[in-house]
Amino acid sequence: MKRKIVLALLAVLVIIQFIRPAKNQAEGISETDVSKVYALPPGMQDILKTKCYDCHSNNTVYPWYYNIQPVAWWMAYHVKNAKKELNFSVIGEYPKKRVDHKLEEILEVLDDGSMPIKSYLWMHQYAKVTPEEAAIITRWINSMGIHKK
Ligand code: HEC
Repeated sequence: MKRKIVLALLAVLVIIQFIRPAKNQAEGISETDVSKVYALPPGMQDILKTKCYDCHSNNTVYPWYYNIQPVAWWMAYHVKNAKKELNFSVIGEYPKKRVDHKLEEILEVLDDGSMPIKSYLWMHQYAKVTPEEAAIITRWINSMGIHKK
């Protein structure tokens, strides 16, 4: 009996290797990308690109283990939820009110250190936002007239 269960689980593992969600990879940088619609301070685009874009843009850079299922499903789930909240690739399409609200939320996540999410940091330790980087982003958001509540 145990042997049968193990074999069945193995079969499932093999089968799911062939089922993958579509990749989140648009061609090029869109005209509505945050870097195209706003004058960002030096360094800021790099910070967003290396630390936020894997989930909050239309261009995820996939690690090798994306090819081992169910990892791709798990990533697709995070990217979908993250983009629903905030997608830097299309921020130029947001009404001003929504942009202001998102900028306010960014101040919050920088403050409480909740982004990037923990499970991402396990594999991407370089993605932790340093105090200097948080200061660059905060100054820019403040210059847009948005301040912490
Ligand atoms: C590994 C994926 C991932 C990365 C990388 C990531 N986020 Fe998120 N983010 C999410 C998900 C998923 C949500 C949706 C809500 C949740 O789960 O908290 C979210 C939500 C948010 C929100 C909405 C407010 C909230 O707390 O829900 C903001 C603002 C945000 N992220 C900013 C950032 C910034 C800034 C960075 C880069 C420094 C970043 N995120 C990096 C996955 C990510």
